[in-house]
Amino acid sequence: MPTDPTTLRLALAEEIAAADPTLDAGWRDAIVAVPRELFLDSAIFRPTGSGWEPVLRTQITEDDWLHMVYTDRTWVTQVEEKDAADTTGPISGSPTSSATLPSLVARTAQVAQLRPGQKVLEVGTGTGYSTAVLCHRLGADHVVSIEYDPDLAASAATHLSKAGCTPTLAIGDGLQGCKEHADYDVIISTCSVRTIPPSWFWQLNDGGSITTTISGWMHAAGLIRLTLDDEGTAHGRFTHDTITYMLARPHERPPAPRFFRLDGDTRPTRLNPALLKEWTGQFVAQLAAPSAELMTTSTGVILRDVATGSQAWTEPDNQGWTVHQHGPLRLWDQIETALQHWQNAGSPDLTGFGMTATPFEQTVWIGSPAGPSWQLPV
Ligand SMILES: C[S@@+](CC[C@H](N)C(=O)[O-])C[C@H]1O[C@@H](n2cnc3c(N)ncnc32)[C@H](O)[C@@H]1O
Repeated sequence: MPTDPTTLRLALAEEIAAADPTLDAGWRDAIVAVPRELFLDSAIFRPTGSGWEPVLRTQITEDDWLHMVYTDRTWVTQVEEKDAADTTGPISGSPTSSATLPSLVARTAQVAQLRPGQKVLEVGTGTGYSTAVLCHRLGADHVVSIEYDPDLAASAATHLSKAGCTPTLAIGDGLQGCKEHADYDVIISTCSVRTIPPSWFWQLNDGGSITTTISGWMHAAGLIRLTLDDEGTAHGRFTHDTITYMLARPHERPPAPRFFRLDGDTRPTRLNPALLKEWTGQFVAQLAAPSAELMTTSTGVILRDVATGSQAWTEPDNQGWTVHQHGPLRLWDQIETALQHWQNAGSPDLTGFGMTATPFEQTVWIGSPAGPSWQLPV
């Protein structure tokens, strides 16, 4: 039977609503209303395990293409700034743009507590899909969206126009906000940040809010909605979601040189390095060593600080694990202490964490602002 996009869209919206009974019907309706096929153009990247292969719309049947479009999956559209449509064979590297999975678009909008009448700045237009979802609920005249990559911004403008949406679109670094069209009631970011950019505070109306994932160079992430108080300080608690968005381009880590294991100072540790393979454990480690990257191996972990070249790596021994640390920072010591604080607090999931932020100082804490805390790299 030929595939009807409207039927597929409705089925997808029902699936998303069934999986999240708390989802506001307005976001479900927006998923039903926005034709995702208009935003995926003619090609996407599919993961191969070691990299990415382009899938061209012309290479598969229209039915298969539409089923792919209406799967609740993120489809990567750009890798290392190369568009899927311009790629002839498999490539490796990190995704630089994607069409976010519809359930996450809806969930992020729900966490942002957006209400009709509010004016929103979306950072990271990408394909324009989430922008269209916002337009459907808030009205296009209440939506401003900014994209870093001019070619992506141009394609998004075409997609949105085909879908009949007319938001205000801008090209530039959304970490500077979008001053031209400020102020906003809500800033919502579909790329992660290591720290909240000062401009976001300055371009918010009183009582405004910021919804974003806080992430970093270990790729651990937490979704948070921060509200601005009268003094200009933003407060919020992380949600339970184990989701992430790709890092904002200016917050990406610099390329790291090749890694060689150095013996360094060696000591036993009783803390299981496998804790860093778990969502919240990794989040804590990232807070404790914000400029370190993490590699996990079958026997332990490798940490390398991008700023100082310090390194730490673990290996199993008869009693537990041995850690080797080299360089000016003792990465494992920092992480071990942080993980112990977390364990002493009962190893809460992300809902046990909150954040207090000004343009000048940003702290993530466990329990309450008086609890164990770590500064984000402002
Ligand atoms: C996950 S994708 C966005 C998905 C998009 N909202 C959608 O539904 O198709 C993240 C996007 O953020 C953009 N981006 C990254 N850093 C940015 C920045 N500093 N300012 C604006 N856009 C940025 C990327 O180019 C990418 O297109």
